[in-house]
Amino acid sequence: MSDHIEMTKTTPKDFLLATLGGLFAPGLAIFLIVMLVLGVRAGMGSPDAAPMTDQAVRERIQSFGVSVAVDPNAPRVERSGEVVYAEVCAGCHESGALAAPKFKEKADWAKRIGSGYDTLLGHALKGFNKMPARGGDPDLSDMEVARATVHMANAAGANFQPTLKKEPEPSAADLARGKMVYADNCASCHDTGVTGAQKLNDAKAWAPLLKEGKAYLYSAAINGSFGGPAKGGNEKLSDADTRVAVDYMVAEAKAAAN
Ligand code: HEC
Ligand code: HEC
Repeated sequence: MSDHIEMTKTTPKDFLLATLGGLFAPGLAIFLIVMLVLGVRAGMGSPDAAPMTDQAVRERIQSFGVSVAVDPNAPRVERSGEVVYAEVCAGCHESGALAAPKFKEKADWAKRIGSGYDTLLGHALKGFNKMPARGGDPDLSDMEVARATVHMANAAGANFQPTLKKEPEPSAADLARGKMVYADNCASCHDTGVTGAQKLNDAKAWAPLLKEGKAYLYSAAINGSFGGPAKGGNEKLSDADTRVAVDYMVAEAKAAAN
């Protein structure tokens, strides 16, 4: 008799467990039903539902003009103008987004073509109003941009060849003078890299600068750039001497890259 009474007595712990169970069991059931419904709906598509989402993602990435689905370890392959156009430029030039001249639309291109290949290429490389430099893909080589520019211009009636202008090489005398000017005015920062100056032999730091071209570098050295003082801080230095110092720096940077 006393045993029976003991068994039906509810301890506080039993009460707590029963309450929690009562609260959770329906919640769990609802959760499982929802998961089941969602699972059934997700599985209702075609068997290759996963590749289709992948395809959709690729299409969405493409409309921003940059191909992200690229193996970063793959060796760099120069692409044709057609491929660069499709992967980078079409994002704007196919539809005319941002008022970009439309592909094959002669009326959009006639005047631009009239301004000449060099102007078009310069704008494609450096940017022009809402046209971003290199179409927004800094990894494109100059030649790839040139080919894509020619691909578009020729499709609208031009007859251009993709070529790159070679910058005139400085003479040995210029380089010798540049080395002297550099030692006196520039080495204090550019030999050590102090305050963020690009070190003379740091090929990696110079690679993006070399892409900008000499005209930009001359102007940055003569007028000053973000952290670099105009003429290295020596007001008396002539423009010509500043330019040969840049020639020397560029020659050293190119030598370091090779
Ligand atoms: C984000 C949009 C966008 C992308 C991507 C883009 N462009 Fe453009 N592009 C423009 C716009 C906008 C203009 C018109 C600029 C103007 O005339 O004010 C333009 C104009 C140009 C012009 C004519 C320049 C001139 O002097 O009239 C060339 C050449 C050009 N783009 C080349 C390219 C190449 C090559 C690519 C791909 C590597 C590319 N664009 C990718 C928006 C874009
Ligand atoms: C007081 C230190 C200092 C001296 C001296 C100096 N530079 Fe620089 N220079 C810098 C810094 C810092 C930068 C990096 C600016 C940046 O972040 O782009 C720089 C960048 C540059 C660049 C690249 C431009 C750019 O956009 O980054 C050139 C070209 C250059 N310097 C040329 C010269 C020449 C030529 C001399 C000598 C006549 C000189 N510098 C002397 C500090 C110096």
